[in-house]
Formats: sequence, structure tokens, C-alpha cells
Amino acid sequence: MKISIINGPNLNLTGKREPEIYGSQSLDNYLQLLAAAYHDVEFTFFQSNIEGEIVDEIQRVGFDSDGIVINAGAYTHYSLAIADALRAVPAPAIEVHISNVHAREECRRHSALAPACVGVIAGFGLDSYRLAVEALDGMQKNG
Ligand code: DQA
Repeated sequence: MKISIINGPNLNLTGKREPEIYGSQSLDNYLQLLAAAYHDVEFTFFQSNIEGEIVDEIQRVGFDSDGIVINAGAYTHYSLAIADALRAVPAPAIEVHISNVHAREECRRHSALAPACVGVIAGFGLDSYRLAVEALDGMQKNG
């Protein structure tokens, strides 16, 4: 099974950035441990602070992956380009957030991407990524 994990702006600073919201573990470290725990899954990891690069990556992996896990950071809340890219490819996508976006500012409650995803996981810290991988794994096993 091939899963592509795509991260958007500022997620490269996870661990250093607002630790009271996003925790103190780096995303790189977390994703390495995740990959080790799922050695039968072939992962690709991508992070960019640039919207068009995220669109390029979705187009690149979206015809070949069995699933996409995407945390588009702030782009989640307004990027029609990323939503369109997710709709353009056959791989099912799961939107994830480290924080519970619904318990934060009003502007974070809206997602432009959620309608283009099979589901959304938010608020479980970095474990949100593992829960998304589990969901894709379950979807594949259950057809
Ligand atoms: C985030 C939530 C977004 O609102 C925010 O802009 C981020 C991180 C999260 O993982 O909780 O950069 O996607």
C-alpha cells in the first residue's frame, strides 16, 4: 500500500512553533516513527510552504498512491487550488490537523478541502496522522 503524506505551510516548524498548540515533537521525528511502525506501507513525505508546490505534489502522487494524508495548514481554510487538485486525482484523501480547529478561531472552522476528502481527523496532536493512516488501511481492506 502506498500512502503520500503532504504537509503545508509552517508544519516544518512543528515542535518549535506554538508548542502549547502543536506540541514539542518535530514532525520529521514523528513521521519517521510512523513509517517504522507501518513497515508494510510505502510512504512518501512532502512538505512545502508554497501552494503551487502542494498542487504539483498532489498531481504527482495522486495517480499512483492508494491514499493521501494532507495537512495543508492555513491553506486548508481557503485554497480552492488544493481542493481542485484533490478532486482531480483518483487517490482518496484524508484531511488532518494536529489541533482541534473547531475549538479555535472561527476562521479555522471552515475547510475548503474537506468536501474534496473522504474524511477529516483533527485534534489528536501528531497522532492525527496515524489515525488517518489507519483509516486508509481500513478502507483498503474493506474495499
Ligand atoms: C493546522 C491548523 C491550521 O488552522 C493552521 O493554520 C496550521 C496547522 C493543524 O494541524 O492544527 O498551520 O493545520
